[in-house]
Amino acid sequence: MQTMYEQMDTAALDAALADLTRQVDEVKAKGLKLDMARGKPSPAQVDISRPMLDLLSSGADLTDEGVDCSNYGCFEGIPSARRLAGEFLGLPADQTIVLGSSSLNIMQSVLIHYWEKGVPGYTPWSKLDRVKWLCPAPGYDRHFGITQDLGIENVPVRMTETGPDMDEVERLCAADDSIKGMFCVPKYSNPTGITYSDETVRRLATMKAAPDFRIVWDNAYAVHDFTDTPDVLANVFDLAREAGNEDRILGVASTSKITFPGAGIAFFGSSAANVGEVANTLKVGLISANKLNQLMHTRFLPDLDAVRAHMRKHAEFLRPRFACVEEKLEEGLAGTGCGTWSHPHGGYFVSFDGPEGSAKRVGALCAEMGVKLTPAGATWPGGNDPHDTNIRIAPTYPSVEELSEALDVLVLAVKLVSAQLAREARA
Ligand SMILES: Cc1ncc(COP(=O)(O)O)c(C=O)c1O
Repeated sequence: MQTMYEQMDTAALDAALADLTRQVDEVKAKGLKLDMARGKPSPAQVDISRPMLDLLSSGADLTDEGVDCSNYGCFEGIPSARRLAGEFLGLPADQTIVLGSSSLNIMQSVLIHYWEKGVPGYTPWSKLDRVKWLCPAPGYDRHFGITQDLGIENVPVRMTETGPDMDEVERLCAADDSIKGMFCVPKYSNPTGITYSDETVRRLATMKAAPDFRIVWDNAYAVHDFTDTPDVLANVFDLAREAGNEDRILGVASTSKITFPGAGIAFFGSSAANVGEVANTLKVGLISANKLNQLMHTRFLPDLDAVRAHMRKHAEFLRPRFACVEEKLEEGLAGTGCGTWSHPHGGYFVSFDGPEGSAKRVGALCAEMGVKLTPAGATWPGGNDPHDTNIRIAPTYPSVEELSEALDVLVLAVKLVSAQLAREARA
């Protein structure tokens, strides 16, 4: 589709460029300092979990169903926390492990384990000539960092409205045994906000792939709905088990964006065999996780219903911010041909695509105007967005007023860069 600037005659385009440049200079003179870079809850949003901190004190009962949480032991996690992990992931409690505060840390540990020792019965990935990993893109930069750091070749697969392009995923996996895995954020994906369709989940669970192929099923936004029509995700573990692929799925989640980012509890869940094997490895370096934190969490959020009630409080903060993004982009860019964006029902991000070759320039121009964005390209493996279109909008941290200002800046930057690109194509 052509942008409105491409459709203008050259005189009109030059006039538009002059006007947009003047507006940009005015914004620069304001000395703004706004941050839309990382997906963090706002300070006031984090505060809603503070009552949890009062639940453990020196006089509190520190046992959980007979387990002493104040001492070593119970490596796999305390009973109430494993039950919660099971509800989160869609698995029986005894197929889960509750660990420290970071799911990213679990993903890295498990992949390092397979890299060094291999999936049981198969060659360690580090001993193979070539190991590839599928990375739905746009996706989460920290995922891509884990495999890149190990020397695994990240292979981008385009995201669609229903999840990763499954024709491409199936074609690649069926033909190439060096593809050992794939990252998935199946609900309210980072950054597109889409939830995988039932059909996508079924195909991932049943498709042909290398026997030691593993899917990191990162359900980081499992309960992060902010509309009355939440997306529903199919249970991948059930589908994989029925297809004889139950070892394929490595489930992870955490309470980072439910209670305290970096100080929550993190979950791992998979087949009984995988859980036992991963636990044995992790036990080498950990006597037991922080069970007092697990206890505090399950006293505050004993089950999924309690979690959902808590998430409704989070939604009060998120809804106006996402509404602001939608309103500002619609008001500024609808009908201009200069951008398309996602309309999520939950999660932490909106994914924006501008004209080809625009994203890096938009990011730089926003920075000059005092607005920090997630670096353009970060949503693709290696930072290489092939068409340089994608920008991740992270609207949760700033206040609605700050966000509104930041979006005006983004809209202005998209327009100026689009106009410049149209002009350069004619020069
Ligand atoms: C998809 C996804 N997974 C994992 C994380 C990090 O989770 P944790 O704090 O549990 O390491 C994030 C944080 O932004 C995320 O977006």
